[in-house]
Amino acid sequence: MNKVKMILDCDTGHDDAIALMLACGNLDIELLGVTCVAGNAGLQHTVPNTLHVVQHLNLPVKVYAGCDRPIVKEQVVADDVHGKSGLDGPVFEPLTISAEQEHAVNFIVRTIMESDGDVVLVPTGPLTNIAMAMRMEPRIVKKIRHISLMGGSLDLGNTTPAAEFNIYVDPEAADIVFRSGVEMNMMGLNLTNRVLATPQIIARMRNIGNKAGNLFADIMSFTLHSQAVNGLSAGPVHDVTAVAYLVAPQLFRMQQMHVEIDISHGPCYGRTVCDIYDRFHLPKNVNVGMDTDLEGFWNLVEQALRNLD
Ligand code: RIB
Ligand code: CA
Repeated sequence: MNKVKMILDCDTGHDDAIALMLACGNLDIELLGVTCVAGNAGLQHTVPNTLHVVQHLNLPVKVYAGCDRPIVKEQVVADDVHGKSGLDGPVFEPLTISAEQEHAVNFIVRTIMESDGDVVLVPTGPLTNIAMAMRMEPRIVKKIRHISLMGGSLDLGNTTPAAEFNIYVDPEAADIVFRSGVEMNMMGLNLTNRVLATPQIIARMRNIGNKAGNLFADIMSFTLHSQAVNGLSAGPVHDVTAVAYLVAPQLFRMQQMHVEIDISHGPCYGRTVCDIYDRFHLPKNVNVGMDTDLEGFWNLVEQALRNLD
């Protein structure tokens, strides 16, 4: 099987960090670079958070700083869930590495334009960088192989009753991406809220006995308690599903449907409106995650962590 060539665009973030570890530990993925965006915390946090994970685990990947605010909306962060730093909990060594000079949006455009059309984008935060890349260089739209994103929901939101965080932070960016025509799958809260790093899962990963397993446990132990705001008893590893789908699609039940973003400024601003019953008879532009095989999913994550330091 050819390796999946991907760019991870993230707002590290507890679950973003685990998604990065899966992307680096899975042998069927070639991670071309990690781009950071403002989301869970400001860019002044999401970039160093990402660098800390890369440095701690000695991951062979470059990190690029991207957009520090949404395209239109005022910035919103998720400090209630992720803490002030965006990655509260684990303690890291002082940083000795830094992000590349090249802006993340320029890196995304350059990488796709230089590619053979085989690059997959995996956004696990607000879609600001992806939308800006599409606007800066429209020719990339036809060259992006696929987008596998964490965001939205078939039903309820987690930031407003209607909207999920990644979409709500930058609805206009999401509108650009969802209308782009790029082949995409969406792992929304209806699926990801069931992928919980319970105390049993945390103990299982710590028992691996390496730095990656211990970092998983240190990171996800924090969200055991912080996710109570969303009525959850443990931390969902939302973002990890967007990576897992690319290398183990058989673990997921998906449904193709029309999805559009509500960018009206009412109570449903930022909602992913999912036409599951095809009422609009519009193009079915998104493959939506509906369910997952949890046993297979955690086996995939554990093996990736075992492959790391
Ligand atoms: O709503 C969950 C999403 O918001 C995840 O990507 C999490 O990291 C936060 O960014
Ligand atoms: Ca995220």
